Amino acid sequence: MKTIFITGATSGIGEASAKLFLNKNWKVIASGRNQEKLELLKELGAETYRLDVTNEQDINKLFTELNEAGTKIDVVLNNAGYGQFGTIEEVSDSLAKKQFETNVFGLASVCRAAIPILRNNGGGRIINVSSAAGFVSMPGGGWYAASKHSVKALSDALRWETKQFGIKVSMIEPGPIKTGFADTVNSNMVNNENGVYSSLVKDLTKSTLSFGGGTVNHCAKKIYRAATRRCPKNRYMVTKEAYLIKFLIHALPPKVLDYFVIKMFIPALKVYAKTKKSAN
Ligand SMILES: NC(=O)c1ccc[n+]([C@@H]2O[C@H](COP(=O)([O-])OP(=O)(O)OC[C@H]3O[C@@H](n4cnc5c(N)ncnc54)[C@H](OP(=O)(O)O)[C@@H]3O)[C@@H](O)[C@H]2O)c1
Repeated sequence: MKTIFITGATSGIGEASAKLFLNKNWKVIASGRNQEKLELLKELGAETYRLDVTNEQDINKLFTELNEAGTKIDVVLNNAGYGQFGTIEEVSDSLAKKQFETNVFGLASVCRAAIPILRNNGGGRIINVSSAAGFVSMPGGGWYAASKHSVKALSDALRWETKQFGIKVSMIEPGPIKTGFADTVNSNMVNNENGVYSSLVKDLTKSTLSFGGGTVNHCAKKIYRAATRRCPKNRYMVTKEAYLIKFLIHALPPKVLDYFVIKMFIPALKVYAKTKKSAN
């Protein structure tokens, strides 16, 4: 029986992946910040652990315990993450650092703790959940995109570094998926009412409310593929939006891409310019 270790399994893509792997008769070690939210997975047969990925000490402790208990981990799924939205001017350094502590340093800490165990087992897989925001940025989503661009850079380096140990590293790059992600984005959104970006932020909030072209099951299936294919791909995109964005980035000259991004957000970006003009 193969074993997968999952972070952020309390909801969304992490929870759906845990269910799929349980259905496929894998041993699932599901971790999350809130043990109560892991109860359902426990009932379904998962081993569950409380784990906040920003706590490096707890990560190391858990992996040491698992190792000492003789648990053989085959796949690590770095899924925990959230979106800190708001403009570059208005998001504080402390919020931006918090975003990186979860999406980037948390993921790196889990990799650091897991790699020796995978290496001693003769290999394994690491699957990092990035995003379409890992290959494109957007107004109001710069810090989230920066964190996911970092996940891409780290995943590529890691794949090359650990190939010699039989460790295969893949990334999942979903476009918009219906989960609790949008609610978290909206509750964390930096929104300086009556500020110069308020209309952009309002538009962002509106668009995240109708967020979600894909489903968690689409993601879970791609994750299962990355875990089981003999030669897993480096990247698995999910949703047609992700494919379209990737295509446009490669097909369009950068200035043309700028034009389309600004056009997409133009009602929001124009409001301040207009207000300023009429005030003068
Ligand atoms: N939904 C999308 O459209 C989309 C698109 C591209 C990429 N993604 C990525 O997919 C991953 C999963 O997100 P989701 O869509 O499934 O959203 P979700 O339902 O909000 O799930 C996020 C999960 O991450 C956990 N988490 C957040 N911070 C954590 C921390 N410090 N330590 C441990 N767990 C933490 C959450 O735990 P709590 O329950 O404790 O909050 C939750 O289990 C994220 O990395 C996200 O960036 C999502």
